[in-house]
Amino acid sequence: MNSFTELHGHAPEGEWAAPGRVNLIGEHTDYNGGFVLPIALPQTCRAQARRRPDGLLRLWSAQGGGPVTELRVADLTPGEVPGWAAYPAAVVWALREAGYEVGGADLRLESDVPSGAGLSSSAALECVVAAAYNDLYGLGLSAPDLALIAQRAENAFVGVPCGIMDQMASMCCREGSALFLDSRDLTSRQVPIDLADAGLALLVIDTRVKHDLADGAYAALRAGCERAAALLGLPALRSLAPSDLPAALPRLPEDLRPLVRHVVTENARVETAVAHLDTGDLTALGPILTAGHASLRDDYRVSCRETDLAVEAALAVGAHGARMTGGGFGGSVIALVAAPEAARIAAEVTAAFHRAALTPPHILTATPAEGARRIVGSTKSRVVNAG
Ligand code: GLA
Repeated sequence: MNSFTELHGHAPEGEWAAPGRVNLIGEHTDYNGGFVLPIALPQTCRAQARRRPDGLLRLWSAQGGGPVTELRVADLTPGEVPGWAAYPAAVVWALREAGYEVGGADLRLESDVPSGAGLSSSAALECVVAAAYNDLYGLGLSAPDLALIAQRAENAFVGVPCGIMDQMASMCCREGSALFLDSRDLTSRQVPIDLADAGLALLVIDTRVKHDLADGAYAALRAGCERAAALLGLPALRSLAPSDLPAALPRLPEDLRPLVRHVVTENARVETAVAHLDTGDLTALGPILTAGHASLRDDYRVSCRETDLAVEAALAVGAHGARMTGGGFGGSVIALVAAPEAARIAAEVTAAFHRAALTPPHILTATPAEGARRIVGSTKSRVVNAG
């Protein structure tokens, strides 16, 4: 039931996968031209796909449920596709906007990236469609180019003003490494991170809340950062070094100062974290994570009761460090723990949620996984139809 053939009447040409992500450190820095350090999750969105010669985009999602959604690629208009189908439609629209005359496709989508958990299920969905189209239509785009297409899709078609981190993580991460990304020019370096070898585990604690203010607040914070950079005469806050802060902050209105302090100190935390990974001192990441959380809580103000509780509970029972990850206002917390302690710490965090009368969190362990890739059918395809 609901196999590709049953949904679309023929076999797929191939199957692709793109992962969700957690960011180790470097939050709300990407749209300031700064540094981020995400890993890809083993959880992926998968797309079986086949080109169509008639310009139709036929979409079905195991998570979305319901019948096949049918759209005409030539008619795709920002803001006019509701629900989950907006994301794959957005990617096709963005490719065409960028001048790639791609046509239609049959798609069957299935994801085990938890949605609404701050783990980039949307980026995984966008990136798997971008990867499938790139291969099927022989576009020859690089992974960073596809990430930019996916970001443009989300910004301009779906209407979410996100930065580039999630799409770059989903497209470019490699198994066993974190992606040290400079968002200013998209240069990146794979930084090996062997948690098991260091006797460590990374818990991902999905608090299962997403507060309503998330979208509007994100846009407002982004605008605040851009205003601060403009007032300081800078292209982006990335250009500010920690040593510049004492002179820069008094030149800004009071409400913008904590935002700038967060961004500048967070960029420095990413660089310190990478230095520790380079020397193999993974445990030293712990205090950096915790300091990052304090900055997001006190300066950037994007944490909330549930994420603060998860961080405090994990630290209280022995985590080396913990912080919220992603945009904030709910979503997930990561905690770096000794591997043999992972189950106990997870149970203690769950107990703390019970005591606070909160919905119990979903907790998984994350290992750095591979970015977007083709998983079935390796024959390179050519463009057959631009309809
Ligand atoms: C969301 C956005 C990213 C990034 C993070 C915060 O996940 O999609 O671009 O800004 O928030 O670091």
